[in-house]
Amino acid sequence: MLGTTVLDRHEIQTIVRRLASDINSDLPGRSPIFIGVLKGCVYFLTDLTRLLPQSVDVDFIQVSSYGASTTTSGSVVLVKDITADVRDRDIYLVEDIVDTGTTLNDVIRLLEARHPRSIQVVSLLSKPSRRQVEVDIAYLGTEIDDVFVVGYGLDHAEAYRNLPDIHELVLEPDGEPGGRVGAGGPR
Ligand code: IMP
Repeated sequence: MLGTTVLDRHEIQTIVRRLASDINSDLPGRSPIFIGVLKGCVYFLTDLTRLLPQSVDVDFIQVSSYGASTTTSGSVVLVKDITADVRDRDIYLVEDIVDTGTTLNDVIRLLEARHPRSIQVVSLLSKPSRRQVEVDIAYLGTEIDDVFVVGYGLDHAEAYRNLPDIHELVLEPDGEPGGRVGAGGPR
């Protein structure tokens, strides 16, 4: 079931405005591209990029450590690739949360092989106590404790992404959520 609210919608937007302002001060004039790591990034990326006064390109990548797919790279499986050519471009890689760091580390290696000019990570959340692989987060919303959170794009088994606030999810001993309070009932 849903536990405490970790960040409500107003706190989220305050963070997003700060990040957009920080990014805007550093944005290179030449065609930056914002690449969102699906699916958790969607609400964050759309809110963030709409606050930038200049035109930026937007693309998406989706990786998985399991499931059906066609291409592999490192320990992640490439489910959906970007369509843009990123050679010599400044990439802003947008993630919902950095946990162990393995996903972003692998995505960064995959993109580096395509010779961009730069890659900077933008993450709404980070759980530093869980880190196994170091990831340099250039623009971080906020750190959180080692709790499982849902809402504002973050899911548990695809549920809860659409909640406007970010909540702790209280997991049962078997690792399953006890109920779907506020999430519209069972899917
Ligand atoms: P990492 O590779 O361990 O850093 O995991 C990153 C991915 O795990 C994120 O992009 C999320 O999809 C997922 N994840 C990690 N922690 C949470 C959480 O608390 N709630 C929802 N998804 C999470």
